[in-house]
Amino acid sequence: MKFYHKIAKVFQPLTYRRSWRRLRRGLHPIPLAPLLARIDQERLRKLRAELGSPPSTAPASWRHYAKYLELEKYLRLNIRRVQDLNLHLTSPKDILDLGCGGGFFLFVAQAQGHRGLGLDTGGIPVFDELVKLLGVERGIYRIEAEEALPDFGRKFDLITAFSTAFHGGKDNSWRWGPNEWEFLIADLERHLNPGGQIFFGLNPAYAGEYYTPEILEVFLRRGAAVERENVLFPPKAVIPSGA
Ligand SMILES: C[S@@+](CC[C@H](N)C(=O)[O-])C[C@H]1O[C@@H](n2cnc3c(N)ncnc32)[C@H](O)[C@@H]1O
Repeated sequence: MKFYHKIAKVFQPLTYRRSWRRLRRGLHPIPLAPLLARIDQERLRKLRAELGSPPSTAPASWRHYAKYLELEKYLRLNIRRVQDLNLHLTSPKDILDLGCGGGFFLFVAQAQGHRGLGLDTGGIPVFDELVKLLGVERGIYRIEAEEALPDFGRKFDLITAFSTAFHGGKDNSWRWGPNEWEFLIADLERHLNPGGQIFFGLNPAYAGEYYTPEILEVFLRRGAAVERENVLFPPKAVIPSGA
């Protein structure tokens, strides 16, 4: 089957699903004001003054990521992410967020009663400061192709990765292929509790596409529901006791 036929098939009910999600968000809102009230506004003002306009000599990523100091914009985006994963309506979960950046997603999830751990390379001042400001626990770790993640001493009910960059992006000459994705997904499964799930919100890293046909094949073979950049894997099987 041609790539565009596969994509068309995946997209058919897209408009319907998007409208449904919008409706659900409206029915169960997460208001912004109480989230903002948890944030030290004086410290935020200082961060904006210090890190809002990095000099032209600063690494390109520092300048690129300065936009994340627009807190309200990124909180709104992450409120939608939390709502779409139903996290405002479920019992407390342990969540691992890969490439957590400033920690916005975990901050909103934590405000709904969940426990979070972010993973990121560190070293980008705006993210280093934002995770502290938002009170998000972060492990410094670089995800590498076909390298198993470390033991975290606990398992997770949900593993997420939003606006992913570990598979290669515009600043890299390389991109992960199907084997690297296959390895990562199998490895992440080791870190899931029974019933736990993996969710990717992908960046368009493959010549403007979120995945190649071969990578899509890997996701589908593993039973994922794929909707454009959103890839949700089925819950990890619960092994019946005594089996
Ligand atoms: C576009 S930002 C997205 C941040 C966050 N997920 C969000 O949606 O707000 C990509 C993040 O991935 C992190 N990252 C890039 N390569 C990584 C790697 N190999 N391992 C872990 N994190 C990585 C970057 O440091 C950055 O925080």
